[in-house]
Amino acid sequence: MTMYDIIEKKKNRLILTKEEISFFVNKYVNNEIPDYQMSSLLMAIALNGMNAKEVTDLTLVMADSGEKIKFDFNVVDKHSTGGVGDKTTLIILPIVASLNCKIAKMSGKGLGFTGGTIDKLKSIPGFNTELDLKKFIDQIKDINVSLISQTKNIAIADKKIYALRDVTATVDSIPLIASSIMSKKIASGASNLVLDIKVGSGAFMKDIVSATELGQTMVNIGKNASINTVAVLTDMSQPLGNNIGNALEVIEAIDVLNGKGPADLREISIELATYMVSLYHKITYDMAKTKVIEVLENKQALNKFYQFVQYQGGNLSLLKANPKYKYQVYSNKEGYITKINTEEVGKIALLLGTGRLTKDDSIDYEAGIVLNKKINDFVKVNDLLATFYTNKEIDLCDKYLNSIEISNQKTNSNLILGVIK
Ligand code: URA
Repeated sequence: MTMYDIIEKKKNRLILTKEEISFFVNKYVNNEIPDYQMSSLLMAIALNGMNAKEVTDLTLVMADSGEKIKFDFNVVDKHSTGGVGDKTTLIILPIVASLNCKIAKMSGKGLGFTGGTIDKLKSIPGFNTELDLKKFIDQIKDINVSLISQTKNIAIADKKIYALRDVTATVDSIPLIASSIMSKKIASGASNLVLDIKVGSGAFMKDIVSATELGQTMVNIGKNASINTVAVLTDMSQPLGNNIGNALEVIEAIDVLNGKGPADLREISIELATYMVSLYHKITYDMAKTKVIEVLENKQALNKFYQFVQYQGGNLSLLKANPKYKYQVYSNKEGYITKINTEEVGKIALLLGTGRLTKDDSIDYEAGIVLNKKINDFVKVNDLLATFYTNKEIDLCDKYLNSIEISNQKTNSNLILGVIK
């Protein structure tokens, strides 16, 4: 077997065997296959796809390439394919933990224009995301929830392959995204999993057809790996909630846990939490939803959030979102907001300091955007559209105006776009 033959096969749209998949993944991890051959194969996969068996084989081989965590208790996990203003994890974890589900969550940093949960939690002074495995497990046994940075040894092959995909225009491939995410979920010991597949201008998947295919592919992999998996397709045609940026998103998540906060963020959080509770306790969707709303309303979830933050060393009284500069963006038109180019808004947030433009950049936890108007809101000339928070002297107001569309008619907008079981 040679790498040349494997590339040739995929170029000709033939199906790769598990042995061939195992060959190229393991030899690449061991530096026995050069980047140029791996890049060529990744491009052939991105162009010609993989069938369900090939994707499952690729996922399992990547999951086996590093450490695999096993829990001696039932756990539930969630994963979002990434969006702008997506702070649902901060709301869902305490809801689900206060309903006696154990959540062992490993998260990543922000990726491109999308934010990462680790960065959001690090905006809370003292919050430790680097617990060792024993402390991580002890905390879950104690308070049902812990969240740490993805350990370096999980799915080593994915780390190496992802870094190559990032620079070879092969990130947006359904088999490659599905196997990348699911290999990490399998290796990190999930037994129940709810996937939030984001769809729209602020997501990797820009349309419902590709999002459905991604969701279906991941649910199939989950089934083949004995993980109870549900995928919920949710709208990312505008940022979720009103706040973008690390500290600002923590503040907004606490608002929702306090019974306030934006309706879209509350609704998606309730939906995802409901599927997690339903899978974990094997109860109906309706029963789970009643429980989820109850712990939001009686503040048990809010208190669980405080307990979780305190347990990991965070001090919420020191959380700050009051940077040196505030810029306000005013409308230059009258009408309804009908489109927000969410990827562009995510990039503006990055420029304000919310994420890293290069891997060594540091983050300004106070930076971000508050959206004062969203899709289907009516605006007059000079109405406030958004407020930028930053420690940089930087004028991005025109860039924001160019990323929204204002028309004289409202548009259709749905939050939950489908569920795949
Ligand atoms: N997130 C991942 O972990 N992998 C991908 O390929 C895309 C998003």
